[in-house]
Amino acid sequence: MKTRILFVCLGNICRSPAAEEIFRTLAARKSLSDRFEADSAGTYAGHAGELPDPRMRRAAAHRGYELTHCARPLREADFERFDRIVVMDDCNYEAAHRLAPSRELAGKIHRMTEFCRHTPQWDHVPDPYYEGHEGFERVLDLLEDACAGLLDDLRNPDRS
Ligand code: 4NP
Repeated sequence: MKTRILFVCLGNICRSPAAEEIFRTLAARKSLSDRFEADSAGTYAGHAGELPDPRMRRAAAHRGYELTHCARPLREADFERFDRIVVMDDCNYEAAHRLAPSRELAGKIHRMTEFCRHTPQWDHVPDPYYEGHEGFERVLDLLEDACAGLLDDLRNPDRS
């Protein structure tokens, strides 16, 4: 059975769809596509149905990631379906906790920066929406680092 990972941010148009595609790409490079499924969602439903923000699509495309996710809100049922729910910042962490149907299922929530190895100075993935180009590049740097760490953690749970 596949391990299912859900990445969560606020709007589901910048950080989490990029995380989803980066994670999927890293897993594919290690021939692990059959072991993992990645998806993403937002704690705010205002962008539901939209493709990722064009600024994020452009920045990600420069690094070889094609973002085609269609934004959707985080739902209660996600806590049953997914094995890990990985959030980008404190706001998402609190919103996900409020939605979790039980304390046990809330235990699936992790912070993305827990898995950073080369960028340990960050305790959240900053919202790039009101930032310039550097904001999007910083997010991609953090997500590439964290996705690699997350993939290692999932493959070797005893080592972390
Ligand atoms: P995301 O970025 O949470 O990384 O998708 C944002 C997208 C939209 C808004 C804020 C952050 N917004 O205010 O609409």
